[in-house]
Amino acid sequence: MRAVVVSRYGGPERLTVADWPEREPGSGELRVRVRAAGVNFADVLARKGLYLGAPRPPFVPGFELAGEVEAVGPEVADMRGRRVLALVPFGAQAEQVVVRADYVFPIPEEMPFEEAAALPVNYLTAYYALVEMAALREGESVLVHMAAGGVGLAALQIARTVPGVELFGTASPSKHELLRQYGCHPIDYRSRDYEQEVRQLTRARGVHVILDPLGGRDTAKNYRLLRPTGRLILYGVTRLSRGPRRNVLAALWEYLRMPRFHPLRLMWESRAVIGLHLGRLWSERERLRRAMETLLVWYREGRIRPVLDRVYPFSEAASAHRRIEARENVGKIVLVPG
Ligand SMILES: NC(=O)c1ccc[n+]([C@@H]2O[C@H](COP(=O)([O-])OP(=O)(O)OC[C@H]3O[C@@H](n4cnc5c(N)ncnc54)[C@H](OP(=O)(O)O)[C@@H]3O)[C@@H](O)[C@H]2O)c1
Repeated sequence: MRAVVVSRYGGPERLTVADWPEREPGSGELRVRVRAAGVNFADVLARKGLYLGAPRPPFVPGFELAGEVEAVGPEVADMRGRRVLALVPFGAQAEQVVVRADYVFPIPEEMPFEEAAALPVNYLTAYYALVEMAALREGESVLVHMAAGGVGLAALQIARTVPGVELFGTASPSKHELLRQYGCHPIDYRSRDYEQEVRQLTRARGVHVILDPLGGRDTAKNYRLLRPTGRLILYGVTRLSRGPRRNVLAALWEYLRMPRFHPLRLMWESRAVIGLHLGRLWSERERLRRAMETLLVWYREGRIRPVLDRVYPFSEAASAHRRIEARENVGKIVLVPG
């Protein structure tokens, strides 16, 4: 079968479509004929060799997919023919993928495969950040960085399920109109200092919850913007990725600029710093399932809906990565076998 393969660490040109071995589902597994697979910022980091825990090249990227079940292994209910979405630790961007049945979810008939493939990683991350870890409450304020990206738009939609929440979001200026449609104050982080702007907009009070996927020097800025009782959710290191190729020195420099938080300081300032990595939740199977099922109910109720930026065939995976790195995507990019 064919799959998107990262042949070596480096620029987008390292992505090729190649033959990849097929395998039969084992006990507790099933095989899905993939119709769509999501692209995440993490794929860009993995391609550059900046994603901790990624396989070494050659490897197939991708953590999420949607399609039809075509084979089931022993001890798995016969779901052949069912339309599903699924999560995998890596390897989703392939024509066929063997997945653990625990991480497979039937999808509504009316849900297009492209939307189903756009849901798992972005919405689970936003859900865990806002609902489970920040425990967002009525009337609080939230600052979302990369607000017009996949996780960012998911976070805006989920935050709006809580009444009276005030939203601020950073994004490139061309995406501001969309953010306004979600009731979010857009902030142009590229030409202005967002720290100053948030202070101005909140009359120096700061915000209750900050979603920080930036890391590096931004983590200290974000911490300063928290009100007492504020929660800073750290879930990415976008700052460590500079330029299309692997730049280990630049990444190290940003890493060294990340603050160290002393417990006494956190206590004195009454603030929480919380880390989140979806990969670590893999072992929390029941909790992850409940979160995913809640999201599918919200989808059916029309409370959330993935915003699709573009759909590319596997053969244009490099264009998908280039679009993300050029900061052009609004919402989610999805690949289809094509
Ligand atoms: N911890 C976890 O489990 C977890 C799970 C999912 C995602 N994440 C992290 O969450 C973040 C968002 O992921 P995503 O998939 O939603 O992102 P995405 O949709 O690919 O977002 C790309 C957008 O990010 C913005 N951006 C800001 N700084 C950038 C930079 N240095 N290079 C390229 N783009 C930059 C650009 O938009 P603007 O210029 O308009 O802002 C760009 O269009 C990433 O850091 C990702 O690694 C973490």
